[in-house]
Amino acid sequence: MKNFAVLASGKGSNLQAILNAIKKKKIKANLNVVVSDNRNALALKRAIKEKIATVVVDPKSFKSRKDMDKAIVKELKSFGIDFVVLAGYMRILSPYFVKAYKNKILNIHPALLPSFKGAHAIRDAFRYGVKTTGVTVHFVDEKVDHGPVIAQEPVQVRNKETLKSLEARIHKVEHKLYPEVISRFAKGHLNE
Ligand code: GAR
Repeated sequence: MKNFAVLASGKGSNLQAILNAIKKKKIKANLNVVVSDNRNALALKRAIKEKIATVVVDPKSFKSRKDMDKAIVKELKSFGIDFVVLAGYMRILSPYFVKAYKNKILNIHPALLPSFKGAHAIRDAFRYGVKTTGVTVHFVDEKVDHGPVIAQEPVQVRNKETLKSLEARIHKVEHKLYPEVISRFAKGHLNE
């Protein structure tokens, strides 16, 4: 079985969906470590609860993005990581990181890329007034929320939709779609 890492900066609801899928044996791969750039991330607590190793990498202790990513890649190599899953990791990866795991880094984004990149995609799409938004899973390259698309699922914006209800519906799709894609990738069924 392949070994993978999850990188998360915040709440970790996608991490939780992944942990649940591992428990149900829907993802046949080992989640060896959860890495965060935020020591207060709820994602870390979720990992600890499931006895998954955690590593905190504090951005303040590095001179550059590359230095920070070198430290992360070193950790990942020490855990024997084959592929990397970004789950609400709110940092742009350096070319160094992308090269180290070329075509082996997945990201989830709560919009239909290439629309509404960035950290507030659900809100931005809602405010724009789109009738359809959704979720994208893609391979990561050096640009923000960019790289070959693996899967997309549309979510229709309903008549009386609020931002809150739309967020809830998008997250629900994320929590279904991401474990499915990770499972396919772990089986070697996704060739970039
Ligand atoms: C998710 O909605 C994910 O798609 C988004 O951050 C959230 C993290 O939630 N990622 C991006 O916006 C990437 N640009 P979580 O910590 O509960 O999984």
